[in-house]
Amino acid sequence: MAILKISEELSRDISTKSLKIEVYHQSNIDLFLESDNSFQVVFRSAKKMLEENYYVLIKNIGFVRKKNIFESFVKLFGEYYGAIEYTDIKLDCPYTGCKTKSLSLHNDDAIDIGGQPKYGFIQIQKEDPLKITKNGMVLIDDMVSYLQLHNNDLFNNLLNIKIKMLAYGVNYDGNDKNEIIINEPILYYEDDKINVRFDLTRINYYYWSKKITPSNQEKLLIDEFLLVANKFRKEMYLEEGDILIHDNLRTLHDRTECTLELNLDGTFNTREIFVSFTR
Ligand SMILES: [Fe+2]
Repeated sequence: MAILKISEELSRDISTKSLKIEVYHQSNIDLFLESDNSFQVVFRSAKKMLEENYYVLIKNIGFVRKKNIFESFVKLFGEYYGAIEYTDIKLDCPYTGCKTKSLSLHNDDAIDIGGQPKYGFIQIQKEDPLKITKNGMVLIDDMVSYLQLHNNDLFNNLLNIKIKMLAYGVNYDGNDKNEIIINEPILYYEDDKINVRFDLTRINYYYWSKKITPSNQEKLLIDEFLLVANKFRKEMYLEEGDILIHDNLRTLHDRTECTLELNLDGTFNTREIFVSFTR
């Protein structure tokens, strides 16, 4: 587990500064984080852990529910694009991120060849009412070492057999709704390292939408891939304020079920998160 716990002293310092700078214009908050020693020591340690472990969980950072500071923090890690998305859990959720049911192992924007985010970020704004929701993480290196030793045939199939995925636009809320179909292997080499491209929702969407029954070979490949992935899945509970950063090309992630707490006026209390990406 790659956990970076911020000391009380450093956390207090970041909290005090966060209260002061949150009224600044976004570009000035960006500049502040780029030059401030406390934010920089967190960034440098997190980046190093990310490069070595492919994910890092930052605890006790000292700022919560400050969208503009989270945005500037994300920007330290690479090319920021899109936005800070706020996601809660809904009863009638139009896309996967806000469903109460669990999300299966995937990497983000797998459909987007060439534009897939390198790093994904979430910060917990409000914990699940029953505190039951866990985030899961799988390192592709763990899977590759295992496969090379125990099942080279499966390893070669994952590098060579192409699987189709379908989406209408990369993001649910994007303007571009053109049909995107890709046909790629689940594992691929990049700079001598092995990356992953996998999203079962998009794969099943292709079969369902085109009224195609997947071959037994494809079904078996996906099933065996998930069996090995789950062998190496690590699970963690994220508390309010925690920031989880993952290398989106070299890990898979998932999330267990969430709770809907019903209020007298018919509204719900649910888990709330900020989500963002860099390339
Ligand atoms: Fe995701």
